[in-house]
Amino acid sequence: MAPTTGDGTRRRPVTAPAIRSRKVRDGADPLVMVTAYDAPGARIADAGGVDMILVGDSLAMVVLGYDDTLQVTIDDMAHHTAAVARAKPSALVVGDLPWMSYHVDRADTVRNAAQLIKAGAGAVKLEGGRKRLPMVEALVDAEIPVMGHIGLTPQSVHAMGGFKVQGRTSEAATQLVGAAKALAHAGAFAVVLEGIPDEVGRMVTDAIDVPTIGIGAGPHCDGQVLVYHDVLGIEERMAPKFVRRYADVGADSAAAIGRFADDVRTGAFPGPDESYHLSAAVAETLGLYGADG
Ligand code: KIV
Repeated sequence: MAPTTGDGTRRRPVTAPAIRSRKVRDGADPLVMVTAYDAPGARIADAGGVDMILVGDSLAMVVLGYDDTLQVTIDDMAHHTAAVARAKPSALVVGDLPWMSYHVDRADTVRNAAQLIKAGAGAVKLEGGRKRLPMVEALVDAEIPVMGHIGLTPQSVHAMGGFKVQGRTSEAATQLVGAAKALAHAGAFAVVLEGIPDEVGRMVTDAIDVPTIGIGAGPHCDGQVLVYHDVLGIEERMAPKFVRRYADVGADSAAAIGRFADDVRTGAFPGPDESYHLSAAVAETLGLYGADG
């Protein structure tokens, strides 16, 4: 599967500066971002024509089986970012900075982000508002494009008291607008808005000059992001309200594996066309009469 346009030509690589100018109010098409964690996933996402592939720290929950995102390390994220980058997608690869990789100091933050860039990301993402501004500035100073992420920030699950919709009060909504403005001012080229009322998604989107990318933030954002496994229906265990499934890959895959198992158990697999054969002469020399080459 090649990252091509409809007429078969390769798409131009998407860059962070190109994303920065994509405001819907200025006539841009909405941005599309999906997560991916490995090379086949990246090839599929790129063939689907997404603008950005996020190697999200959701890796922890959807691939590695943890209950939250706090368990993944910068080495885990670099490992999966490199796998995605090896697919050479035209989409911009955004590497997610995991919890505690940008919370200690600026130098540590830049070193960790550089690990994701060296692994093949074209930008990094981090969670949080005003508290993270020094880190955003340090990354921009180091020539690393940064995407912000505010609202329901999963790395703050304990501080938030669970995965809860944010920005429901007028104070909280105003704070989110202020945080988005501050992130954009510090140099973020886009901001993810997660788990907030759609009215607040619109307020933030109207307030800043860089694109907002929503997940559970309503239809007024400059783009939308979903997790790969949710879009494709790979897992049925969790179904957040904001997810729309476009396939039933989990059930289809289980049914396919079931058919394989049946064929093995009944002797229907492998058949002659799925087996290698000796030439008739060698079979005869070995006394294997009946071998048909
Ligand atoms: O890790 C992730 O998948 C994310 C998206 C939900 C935005 O951060």
